[in-house]
Amino acid sequence: MIKLLSHLSYVAVTSPDVEASVRFYEEQVGLTVVDRVDGAVYLRCWGDYYAYSVVVLPGDQPSMATMAWRTSSAQALDEAVKRIEAAGVAGEWVDVHKIGRAYRFTGPWGHSMTLHWDVTRHESAGAAASIYPDRPSTRSKVAGAPRQLDHVTVACSDVDAFADWYNEVLGFRIMARTILDEAPVSVFSVLTTSEKSHDLGVVLDGSSAAGRINHYAFWVDTREELLIAADTLMENGTAIEYGPSIHGIGEQNFLYYREPSLLRIELNTGGYRNYVPDWEPNTWKPSMGSNNFYRNGVMPMSMTESFPPADGPSATEEGVPDEIMDALLNPYAKQGRG
Ligand SMILES: [Fe+2]
Repeated sequence: MIKLLSHLSYVAVTSPDVEASVRFYEEQVGLTVVDRVDGAVYLRCWGDYYAYSVVVLPGDQPSMATMAWRTSSAQALDEAVKRIEAAGVAGEWVDVHKIGRAYRFTGPWGHSMTLHWDVTRHESAGAAASIYPDRPSTRSKVAGAPRQLDHVTVACSDVDAFADWYNEVLGFRIMARTILDEAPVSVFSVLTTSEKSHDLGVVLDGSSAAGRINHYAFWVDTREELLIAADTLMENGTAIEYGPSIHGIGEQNFLYYREPSLLRIELNTGGYRNYVPDWEPNTWKPSMGSNNFYRNGVMPMSMTESFPPADGPSATEEGVPDEIMDALLNPYAKQGRG
């Protein structure tokens, strides 16, 4: 198979209060608004190469409207479409703002994906133009502002089947997965189009809802910036949901918080670089520190919430037996593996 996808290009999310979300992205995350069209607000990080990397759309609840991936060539786009349709999924050609021709489809577990080759590159003028020719604009003045969009992690009722489908149809490399210590249940997997551990993650969705997102992530250049972002968010009244710490899988420094819609945002930096074309994914267990390298920080229950929220008072746990939730949330209780 030729290389089909090159990287994640933008994530479109919905918010019940678009202006509150946009204000947060501008003032707390350090993104810049580049366009407003028919209620949609387009934003970018200072280092993003194209016109935008985040779209905020009005919606009743926080959710992912689509995740967009640039293909490796015009031919790769045609080949990807052929493979998607051969797999029994029918999408449609759409015209996307400042992109143009794109193919949009809904994957087998309800996630909208938009594939495109055409782009508009970002160009800055005046004070926003960097003195460095490779930089699309000057650094954000917001402390700890991310350089660029990094990855998206969705929720799905069958983690392994999801990973296999996106591997077989679109050529994502499967880099690792996590099964529970107590039961052969896959709860997490990471896939990539590049040398980093993932630009697409998938967590187990215990609800019957389709097409949900767990979080999406931005990249900062250094761990120091990630820590400064955490400090600044705290001082500005934004709670840190989990971290700062290091994931075992991928070895990235991480930090999770919520934007005003309650959608979860992550900051990442560091991590391995893996160029192995026939990489065999390892199977981790939570007790190995898959989520927390130091095997000491228990993941908060709230991290299992995906978006839009499923119906019902305990929807995040719907369909997941108590012992599995307990194993997921308290992985070090029985480890004795220090
Ligand atoms: Fe993540």
